[in-house]
Amino acid sequence: MVTTIGILGAGRVGSAVARTALKAGYAVHISGSGPAADIQLIVDIVIPGAVAMTAAEVAASADLVILAVPMHKFRTVDPGTLAGKIVIDTMNYWQPIDGTLDEFTTDARSSSEVVADYFASAHLVKTLNHIGYHDLETDARPAGDPQRHGLALAGEAETAAVVAEVLNRFGFDPVYAGPLVAGAAFEPGSPIFGGRHTADELAIELGLAEAA
Ligand SMILES: NC(=O)c1ccc[n+]([C@@H]2O[C@H](COP(=O)([O-])OP(=O)(O)OC[C@H]3O[C@@H](n4cnc5c(N)ncnc54)[C@H](OP(=O)(O)O)[C@@H]3O)[C@@H](O)[C@H]2O)c1
Repeated sequence: MVTTIGILGAGRVGSAVARTALKAGYAVHISGSGPAADIQLIVDIVIPGAVAMTAAEVAASADLVILAVPMHKFRTVDPGTLAGKIVIDTMNYWQPIDGTLDEFTTDARSSSEVVADYFASAHLVKTLNHIGYHDLETDARPAGDPQRHGLALAGEAETAAVVAEVLNRFGFDPVYAGPLVAGAAFEPGSPIFGGRHTADELAIELGLAEAA
């Protein structure tokens, strides 16, 4: 059972996810790339209630870890610290920010499959990447609300089920797309990326259901 969520990255996405997780009742441990003291002030002001730590401490103490670092930085995260952990990959390869990263331009696979090779001992699930960080808090709705939006997730089914419950508590309907390869359907450039969809609409976009 997930009670403590760890977040690697205290930037735009990491902060928004942290506030969402706190509101959902989770304990939140968060880090930047350096010592806890470097982010203490921002955590106190922007994410009150979260605990600032180093990345290694976050990884060791959390039941589930959310990767919210820029794609060009993912190899600075020590994969050994995430061995055996459930890890959410929120990252997108975004050339204006990441520059040209050959491993993504020459590899036809979805970005999360490339990332999963690096974190080979972790249980990686792709989600939270196709919603704008600013929409995460404003779009959250209670279960059953007709306005509730869906969030797609991809990864191994058993791990994805754990992550789905977290998304549900965050205020979204999880829509399981399939194994990591299915995550290509909600990467940048896809109709899902950056849009707002109900779970039913997402299922149609993902080819899991037919339009009525
Ligand atoms: N923009 C959106 O709406 C959106 C939505 C969903 C997903 N995404 C994706 O989310 C990811 C993060 O984007 P962002 O806009 O939040 O980035 P950001 O604002 O630049 O923040 C990045 C954070 O990652 C930290 N970091 C870097 N290397 C680290 C490491 N090895 N361990 C721990 N923390 C580390 C940075 O800390 P330092 O300052 O110490 O380096 C910083 O706190 C990107 O891949 C992006 O594509 C973006």
